[in-house]
Amino acid sequence: MSALFDSFSLKDVTLKNRIAVPPMCQYSSEDGFANQWHEANYASFARGGAGLVIVEATAVSPEGRITPNCLGIWKEEHTEGLANLAKRIKDQGAVAGIQIAHAGRKASANRPWEGDDHLPAEDPKAWQPIGPSAEAFGAHLSRTPEAMSKQDIERVKQDFVNGAKRALEAGFEWLELHFAHGYLAQSFFSKHANKRTDEYGGDAAGRGRFLLETLDAVREVWPQHLPLTIRFGVIEYDGDDEQTQAESIALIKQFKAQGADFVSVSIGFNTPDATIPWGPAFLAPVAERVRNEANIPVATAWGVDTPELANDTIEKGQLDIVMVGRMHLTNPHWTYFAAKTLAEDNPSWVMPAPYAHWLQRYA
Ligand code: FNR
Repeated sequence: MSALFDSFSLKDVTLKNRIAVPPMCQYSSEDGFANQWHEANYASFARGGAGLVIVEATAVSPEGRITPNCLGIWKEEHTEGLANLAKRIKDQGAVAGIQIAHAGRKASANRPWEGDDHLPAEDPKAWQPIGPSAEAFGAHLSRTPEAMSKQDIERVKQDFVNGAKRALEAGFEWLELHFAHGYLAQSFFSKHANKRTDEYGGDAAGRGRFLLETLDAVREVWPQHLPLTIRFGVIEYDGDDEQTQAESIALIKQFKAQGADFVSVSIGFNTPDATIPWGPAFLAPVAERVRNEANIPVATAWGVDTPELANDTIEKGQLDIVMVGRMHLTNPHWTYFAAKTLAEDNPSWVMPAPYAHWLQRYA
């Protein structure tokens, strides 16, 4: 059996293989509610055989949505629809994960296929984004956020706590805090976005404070026996990469000491002035460094597109899990494709019987 098809256990949760579907926003919600689109989407990923399916960035408050059509977890009424997603995923033997998020200064934007830019302030659908400082991201996201007060910081931490409680109630077993991609938490850690002069800014300890306090608060309500994980951008590709990685890894060591179980290693996306070396599995060596130096299990996404490459990253000990995103949009049954490619025994049986039987019979 190839390494990609080994099981993986973390706390009381066991993934049947090392393949995960990372969070991918559908921008298809009204007032934050999950609907039939989401159910079909997540059911198809789970049916395809992935061990872990993580529901997209789900906003902990209305102001924390990227677009007006993002999924939400800010009110009790959202829980039922999210529970349907968790059930669809678990019914197929996958572990149900969810990413809870606040978009910070990147909030109040158009959907990607409708411009991907900030909604004009006067648009009735727009709202005032908030961030660590009144510093705009720039480029297509040019709106200046309102600098958060201490009260705002306390409120958003509580929003994450409430979101985590609802995620548990909805039946999710793997919680991912979105501390990546230039959204609120990531922007607190970034020198590009955080110009605060109080205890939430300045040196790496100050810039890390919001993230650590949010983690602490969530740890109190998320059960010890279930994985509490973080997606974190550890590198910016802005020319200052050694320092960013060193500071990020130091913070990840603190995440671990304060109860985080796993890190999905990603990119900062805090500045439009980055030169990202896109290519097959280009983040795998960065993730491997995190794994070795912080001594914590890791995943990464970004171009782990082929079964051979995915297997290689696991076999070489670079990653514990591979996150396969867009390939699951092209083929929700990517795990079956991987099982066939890697010549696993009875590959079709990574899928449920009504598919598996016929694929095997006429293979
Ligand atoms: C994403 N990505 C993303 N990341 C995240 O942390 N939360 C999210 O909700 C989303 N939403 C999202 C939507 C869509 C349509 C895409 C394509 C991507 C990033 C995603 O999780 C992943 O990192 C990238 O797709 C790169 O991995 P692949 O596609 O190269 O395997």
